[in-house]
Amino acid sequence: MAENSADLSGSEREQRIAELKAKMQASAKKNKAQSEAPAEVKAAPKVAVVETAAAPPPPAVSTTQAKSNGAATNGATATAELAQTTTIAAAAAEPVFVEDSPEVKARKEMTRREFMTYAWGGALGLLALQGATGLFFFMMPRFKAGEFGGVFFIGPESSMPATDAPPQPNVAGKFWLVNTTDEGVKAIYMVCTHLGCLYKWEPANFRFECPCHGSKFTREGFYIEGPAPRSLDTFLVTVENGEVAVDTGKKTLGAPSAESPARAVPV
Ligand code: FES
Repeated sequence: MAENSADLSGSEREQRIAELKAKMQASAKKNKAQSEAPAEVKAAPKVAVVETAAAPPPPAVSTTQAKSNGAATNGATATAELAQTTTIAAAAAEPVFVEDSPEVKARKEMTRREFMTYAWGGALGLLALQGATGLFFFMMPRFKAGEFGGVFFIGPESSMPATDAPPQPNVAGKFWLVNTTDEGVKAIYMVCTHLGCLYKWEPANFRFECPCHGSKFTREGFYIEGPAPRSLDTFLVTVENGEVAVDTGKKTLGAPSAESPARAVPV
């Protein structure tokens, strides 16, 4: 099918070139028509590729022929025509937009869905981790025994002071220990309920007195007088295996001053 170009005469060569040109032009028209019709886009690449491949290197053939035969006029014409066909072929070979097939679209869609699933999963996992961390720190004891905020073991019940004895200070636990007839052992927080001063035990008056603004409280911690808004706060006292324990992490606020059974001036 492919005769040697060097064997062709001038007219045969021109005929051959014309044929090639016609083929290339037809191919270009076809491709253009396909690119303008979106529904047929998918078929375009194949046609363009086949036609381009079926027209091998015409420029090379014409150039060789022109040089070898010395036919300047015919060669120049052929070269010009072939240059034109080459331009058309190059235009036909321009990339054509190919729409994704339904399978590819479905695959991409699935990938997006998977991404959203992973994102949601990650967010929920982080929330769960945060909750678990909070619960862990809430549940675990934050203070050691014998450290303020933790539990103080102050001895067996039999070793508690008498119910009429002065209060005993526990500096580490920041409480006064008293034994009462009505409420048993009490651990009274050492901080004044007015503005937080450290009140003192006044043996001469047998009561607590705050040096800051003069609030006064009974041995059991009840409000007597002064600007304090409530009786003294207390810590939880329990008995564990016969030993009295004061939990300084569990504080109970004193009752309002007006409800104190020991207030000096009834409201
Ligand atoms: Fe105690 Fe004000 S702080 S009376």
